Amino acid sequence: MPAKPKFYLTTPIYYTNGLPHIGHTYTTVVADVIRRYKRMRGYEVVMTTGTDEHGVNVERAAKKAGVPEAEFVAKMADAWRGLWDELGLSAEEFVRTTDLRHVRTVQWLFKLFRENGYVYKGHYTGQYCIYDNAFVNDAKPGDNCPDCGRPTETLTEENYFFKLSAFQQPLLDFYKKNPDFIQPESRKNEIVSFVEGGLKDLSITRTTLRWGIPVPGEEPHVFYVWFDALTAYLSAVGGPDYEKRGMWPADLHLVGKDIVRFHAVYWPAFLMAAMLPIPKQVWAHGWFLMDASKMSKSKGNVVLPRPIANMLGMDALRYFLLREVVFGQDGNFSYDALATRYNSDLANGLGNLASRTAAMIEKSFAGKIPKAGKLEPQDEALARETQTAIGDVLDYFEKMNFARALESLWAVIAAADKYLTTEKPWSLGDSEDDTQRKATILATIAELLRIVTVLAHPVLPDSTVKIWTLLGQPGPVSAVELDGLRWGHLKTGVPLGKPQTLFPRVEKVEAIERIESMANEELNPTVAPTPAPAVTPAASGATAATAPAVTEKIGIEDFAKIEMRVGQIKTAERIVGADKLLKLTVDIGTEIRQICAGIAQYYEPETLIGRKVAVVTNLAPRKLRGVESNGMIIAASVGPEGRPVLASFPEDVEIGARLK
Ligand code: MSP
Repeated sequence: MPAKPKFYLTTPIYYTNGLPHIGHTYTTVVADVIRRYKRMRGYEVVMTTGTDEHGVNVERAAKKAGVPEAEFVAKMADAWRGLWDELGLSAEEFVRTTDLRHVRTVQWLFKLFRENGYVYKGHYTGQYCIYDNAFVNDAKPGDNCPDCGRPTETLTEENYFFKLSAFQQPLLDFYKKNPDFIQPESRKNEIVSFVEGGLKDLSITRTTLRWGIPVPGEEPHVFYVWFDALTAYLSAVGGPDYEKRGMWPADLHLVGKDIVRFHAVYWPAFLMAAMLPIPKQVWAHGWFLMDASKMSKSKGNVVLPRPIANMLGMDALRYFLLREVVFGQDGNFSYDALATRYNSDLANGLGNLASRTAAMIEKSFAGKIPKAGKLEPQDEALARETQTAIGDVLDYFEKMNFARALESLWAVIAAADKYLTTEKPWSLGDSEDDTQRKATILATIAELLRIVTVLAHPVLPDSTVKIWTLLGQPGPVSAVELDGLRWGHLKTGVPLGKPQTLFPRVEKVEAIERIESMANEELNPTVAPTPAPAVTPAASGATAATAPAVTEKIGIEDFAKIEMRVGQIKTAERIVGADKLLKLTVDIGTEIRQICAGIAQYYEPETLIGRKVAVVTNLAPRKLRGVESNGMIIAASVGPEGRPVLASFPEDVEIGARLK
């Protein structure tokens, strides 16, 4: 069998002086979608992401946190990697600029520049933006940084310079020969004019900075952060030994529009100087804006991915990011638009089509997809429309026009809904003719659903697996080859899988409130009091086994401050998006309270109704996963994993009785 063609794609490596928000998630989601898509087109794919850990900002942030830089960045890198893992976005390679493999690659590349005569020592005085880690060309003292608007600082230092000026013509020739190198077209035009305007040599080492990769034998020189950072793409796939891994050059660098110049001018020039292969493409996307301005923690307008994923599922967030904004353009982020799309396109659209199709097959054909009988013109028309959509969707994917790809796919779902409304399979009887017709209709819809599921898989990796299982189709959906996808390959006669919850409809206002409240908890973790270890909610992860031993004694007056009463559980239900929590209503004698308890993994809600429990009744109310909790249920924390066991009363006790 011939070897698979390779595809190597990268996200930017993210700064470690902050944590991921929806803007960073956007790039990583797009990379993940392309990775899955390319795999289904037969490529061997490697995706790299990582963390950009050097520079003055990190130095300052570590100082502020009172820890050494290495410790600071290790924690931050764990947080980034951890979040990507949690969101199902882990890449094959996670490169940190403090990795030894990376340090070696940076030093090797510089050695090649030297050997090839592209560096020299000099002095540089200029205005420097410490926030963007860049000297600001042509700025005067007192000027603000044109990118971020913050004040620049005047710096003079001894530097090594890279002869960027020598690459003006080679770069222009390269752009001409490789017209798709910079995408979209508008960015390409910007870059070409920038290079045509003339290139000044670039200082690529610093002597004013301590926290960076040392230039061997030239201390105190350390490498300029952008030279350091860009090289990470190469370190991730072998560095000096890149030929062994066979992935270099990168096929696609995905970047935000603010960092195109680094990727489309400096990076290819560096590689030309080292005589290394140049990446195939740099694709610049726009920004997700909040109220028309770029998100930043200091402006207090950041949107976090985790609360959205917890509330609506990661597939919903992926769908929204790709569907809402044309790739390459800026767009506004709004929770309202997110929840609207979720309900209309996912809950009422795909989710509803899948569950009602399965329910009809279950009812009329004992849960086995029937074979189609004689086709009517309307069945053939729907088949043709779906077949055409396959070509369109693949074409849009190739052009990175994800919004149009999804639009075309959802037009097929709308056509299916319309077809069902006109054909009304539910109104057909049990005669042979009617059963035949019903079989044809349901087989047609099931086939359409199979195709939609395959095409949507790169964007909705979790829910399409569920639909695939529901349809009882063979193999994993991710293994279906997109190139061979056509109408008519549905496997019939196979039993349907178990019904699955796909996209439960949400109450918009409540969903937004809960997302915002979870985001608030995440951004201001100190606002909520930490629950005591042996007491629910155990969702905090704290357990008696891991809690420090209590050494300090308290007086009876301290204990008297805690009001505990006997309560009786009236209702108990699970909370969408919070696997560990149950929402309870508890009668405490004087009133009925809503209380959340972290016991969902150990107690079935229905077994709790009527049970008498010990409740702390005078705790300040707080929100857990966005749900108000007014009190706390007492539980013992058992075993190393802290299994909660509810405190209960062997003798009958009155509801509301005080525990003393
Ligand atoms: N560390 C550099 C990249 C080095 S790559 C060799 C960096 N890091 S960053 O963390 O500031 O930004 C990483 C990416 O996130 C950039 O592509 C940037 O455009 C993107 N985004 C940051 N905020 C964004 C939005 N609000 N919307 C969309 N993307 C944005 O730059």
